[in-house]
Amino acid sequence: MPARINPSILAADFVNMERDLGRIASADLVHVDVMDNHFVPNLTFGPQMVERIQAVSAIPLDVHLMIDDPDHWALGYAELGAYSVTFHAEAAADPVRLARRLRALGARAGIALKPGTPADDYLELLAEFDQVLVMTVEPGFGGQSFRAETMPKLAQLRAAVDAAGVDVWLQVDGGVTEETIVIAAENGADTFVAGSAVFRADDPAAQIALLRESASAHRH
Ligand code: DX5
Ligand code: ZN
Repeated sequence: MPARINPSILAADFVNMERDLGRIASADLVHVDVMDNHFVPNLTFGPQMVERIQAVSAIPLDVHLMIDDPDHWALGYAELGAYSVTFHAEAAADPVRLARRLRALGARAGIALKPGTPADDYLELLAEFDQVLVMTVEPGFGGQSFRAETMPKLAQLRAAVDAAGVDVWLQVDGGVTEETIVIAAENGADTFVAGSAVFRADDPAAQIALLRESASAHRH
């Protein structure tokens, strides 16, 4: 399985979203950053916008919820048809219950960890999730630099996933470029979010192909 490349539409032109979705048609999934101005100091959009993105996107949605109270709000994104819904460990009151409810609605369930959040509490619970998102920047903004100090946590998760023999995707998000994608791949990531690196490229499709090739060549 080649590395998955999920461009983040946080770096797209919000008033030309359908056009920009067309520019990333060769991606694996569309990464959709929902921010509520509480969990993170930035605001994007909510279910009404995501429902429209879902309606016009040729590829499935990888929704990343940077919001408070995901136990309440996350389910709506599964109900509108998102392929994957990832909520933050720091915000969820009962992550396992929420993941089970998301799966019951037919979505993949993901749990995200901020750079400072250890993975230890989740290593025994991996089978409850379809994806663990290791944030490689502080969530909230695109265009930040990759934080390599998160790599031991990613490697720890890769070892635990392999030891348990579970099919859990390991995603990185933040500061992913042609250079840093190699480091993340070597440390066990198989799913890569890239905002600026894709949308700032002259040819986003070529950039997606390059990132995929580079990550696949350095797979753990
Ligand atoms: C940051 C978001 C990311 C962001 C990544 O909080 O979760 O998905 O769009 O942007 P780049 O790739 O520019 O760091
Ligand atoms: Zn994200």
